[in-house]
Amino acid sequence: MQSFIQYSPTKVIFGRDTQYQTAAAIKEFGGSKVFVVYGGGSVVRSGLLDLILTNLEENGLEYRVKGGVKPNPRLSFAREAVEESIAFGTDFVLGVGGGSVLDTAKAIAHGTANPGTDIWKFWSKELSIEKSLPIGAVLTIPAAGSETSDSAVLTNTDTGRKCGTSTDLNRPKFAIMNPELTFTLPKYQIGCGICDIMMHTLDRYFTPTKGNQLTDEIAEGLLRTVIANGRIAVKEPDNYDAMSEIMWAGSLSHNGLTGLGAEKDFAVHQLGHELSAMFDVAHGATLTTVWDAWAHYVYREDPARFAQYARNVWSITIEDDEQAALEGIKVTVDYFRSLDMPVKFSDLDVGVQTEAVLEKLADSCSYNRTRQIGSFKKCSRDDILEIYKMANC
Ligand code: NZQ
Ligand code: ZN
Repeated sequence: MQSFIQYSPTKVIFGRDTQYQTAAAIKEFGGSKVFVVYGGGSVVRSGLLDLILTNLEENGLEYRVKGGVKPNPRLSFAREAVEESIAFGTDFVLGVGGGSVLDTAKAIAHGTANPGTDIWKFWSKELSIEKSLPIGAVLTIPAAGSETSDSAVLTNTDTGRKCGTSTDLNRPKFAIMNPELTFTLPKYQIGCGICDIMMHTLDRYFTPTKGNQLTDEIAEGLLRTVIANGRIAVKEPDNYDAMSEIMWAGSLSHNGLTGLGAEKDFAVHQLGHELSAMFDVAHGATLTTVWDAWAHYVYREDPARFAQYARNVWSITIEDDEQAALEGIKVTVDYFRSLDMPVKFSDLDVGVQTEAVLEKLADSCSYNRTRQIGSFKKCSRDDILEIYKMANC
């Protein structure tokens, strides 16, 4: 086990009707002028936004509302919201929605606390984030884990780059998590969320670090739980118990717990971000599109690790490590398919790509050959290209 710091300060307020505790939670963390941000309208249609605004009013909190965050949230929208937030005099930012809304809330908090600074400099890593405003989350989709994570992901459509920035200042002060708020999710988004949660765990589980038993067991248990409840949730989107398990797993999959004491990999996330940046595909779907190719490309680095995954997560009993590893990859991909998730390029609306497009993806993912991705196998630009080629069928 490697040395680690575990810091997950977000107060989780979980269960039925917890959305009524929003104003009290904001006050607890010193908010009085609240900038409320939401997405394309699901929270308007469900009545959640109205309910939250009434809750703020009844508790004497001033607010300003901005809707319109798109999936794969845009830098341009966040910049615009920062200006409005500064003009309002915001002292607390509340996101009501999914990962895209929460990541935008984080960007607004950083921008408001640093007037005159272009927020993209925090994402391009030209500047580090030294101060921000407190952020709160009312979560409506179990997926990205942004409600407790230290990261935020934005897309810069001018440069075609989608990237994240990590800091403890990204960790929300509180997260309101009522599984009932997810009952309106379309099946596709449930599938995307389940696979994203699995991938936050797998992108940590496939690590070169050895001898990390407790973290491994936590990760394997989380994966088994999500897989089993995912099967139920796609058939019964209003199954409270299944959605509860998935929602809680979503937070734990990305607050650091499932990778403590180990080097992270996250190559699959990096490969996927390029597909979102180029084709505006939903995040979870980008991950399943490349995972099969990535797994087949890297498993020989340590077949025993993939065999452990196959045995402990999927109950595969094959004794030979290589065969068990391959079976584990196969059943994982079958599971993605069972959720109607894409597992190769031709499953996406954009279809099979030309070699030139794959080269462009590989250049961008490797920052024009200036970085490698992953740790289980460190992947160079040429490795990245090979993985995209394998997925391009
Ligand atoms: O915009 P609205 O109308 O709300 O609709 C959304 C959106 O179309 C819809 N939705 C959300 N809750 C709903 C609902 N529809 C009906 N009923 C509900 N209860 O779902 C769609 C997707 O929403 P989005 O917020 O984009 O989904 P998700 O939570 O998967 O977030 C994805 C974003 O998070 C980033 C991804 O890259 C992507 O940009 N990530 C953020 C991370 C972080 N901050 O730690 C880590 C992740 O790995 C990920 O990269
Ligand atoms: Zn993710």
